[in-house]
Amino acid sequence: MTDTAPRKQTETVPLHDVGLAKAATLLRRGGLVAFPTETVYGLGADATNDRAVASIFAAKGRPRFNPLIVHVPDIKTAMRHVDFNDTAHALADQFWPGPLTLVLPRRDRCKLSPLVSAGLDTVAIRLPAHGGARDLMRLLDRPLAAPSANASGTLSPTEADHVLASLDGRIDLVLDGGPCAVGLESTVIDLSGATPVLLRHGGLAVEALEVAIKGPLARATEDTHAPKSPGMLLKHYAPRLPLRLNVDEAAPGEVLIGFGPSMDDPNLSRSADMTEAAARLFRLLHAADDPKRHAGIAVAPVPEVGLGIAINDRLRRAAEK
Ligand code: TXA
Ligand code: MG
Repeated sequence: MTDTAPRKQTETVPLHDVGLAKAATLLRRGGLVAFPTETVYGLGADATNDRAVASIFAAKGRPRFNPLIVHVPDIKTAMRHVDFNDTAHALADQFWPGPLTLVLPRRDRCKLSPLVSAGLDTVAIRLPAHGGARDLMRLLDRPLAAPSANASGTLSPTEADHVLASLDGRIDLVLDGGPCAVGLESTVIDLSGATPVLLRHGGLAVEALEVAIKGPLARATEDTHAPKSPGMLLKHYAPRLPLRLNVDEAAPGEVLIGFGPSMDDPNLSRSADMTEAAARLFRLLHAADDPKRHAGIAVAPVPEVGLGIAINDRLRRAAEK
């Protein structure tokens, strides 16, 4: 975390008309507002304002080479900023609004701050399914640059309290819309090259994308794509306590996060439902990550199918030393 972020008074307000109006006013002045999406809470700034976008990096302590996702309220707005190709149209028609981010070439004379692209000639763009997030962007009438609303390298926030836990005093406002329905960040796919490439597993299962593009989706490797999606490289989503994976029985002092019907609480999903497990993942990790109560966190095996692939990806990054 850098020390360049000025100290601010962070207010939390419910996501309703008064809250939205307040948020839009702050954003118009270049402020930072955390808001709920269906995936995780985003830390929003006016994507057309260089200073506002720069302050996101300062508040999060985020490396400047790591580009940001730009959020839009409708496809028409997206098409003003990036060049859509046939695959982009097909995927947007099928999966937007929803937890899918498309990386596409920036349009000529695009009004977005170059900082959102961190030096690349592409923009990652997403139309969120959360009605409150879209209401905010319509009211503001500008796109929102928004990474997850947490200090860089810490667990992503799926509730307003998680945002405050790492960004209190560094941002202007938190719009509290309750827990996020999906609970995992969006799936990121690069459509700027000759063939689509998966950059990040996330809230849209990769199997659904492969049906849509009628074939297997190429996976980015750190060798081929690190410079294109620096976020892939970083240790991410880390709790404070050590984390062990694929564990059936807790060691002394450890709290075990279970999965499936045979395991006690806390449990990602007793019915082994992947959607429920995804929605609960970060909440259970945040709650378990208490050094006063536990010496470590253990997590039961989660099957590597559907959203389980993204869940295991986040768990592996969180366990990275
Ligand atoms: O669900 C989400 O995606 C949430 C909510 C708030 O929308 N946002 C989020 O943002 O997770 P962030 O900044 O934590 O993750 C963005 C990821 C990073 O891995 C980044 O490297 C990648 O997207 N990315 C952004 N712009 C890119 C670009 N132009 N080319 C390649 N990768 C890009
Ligand atoms: Mg993040």
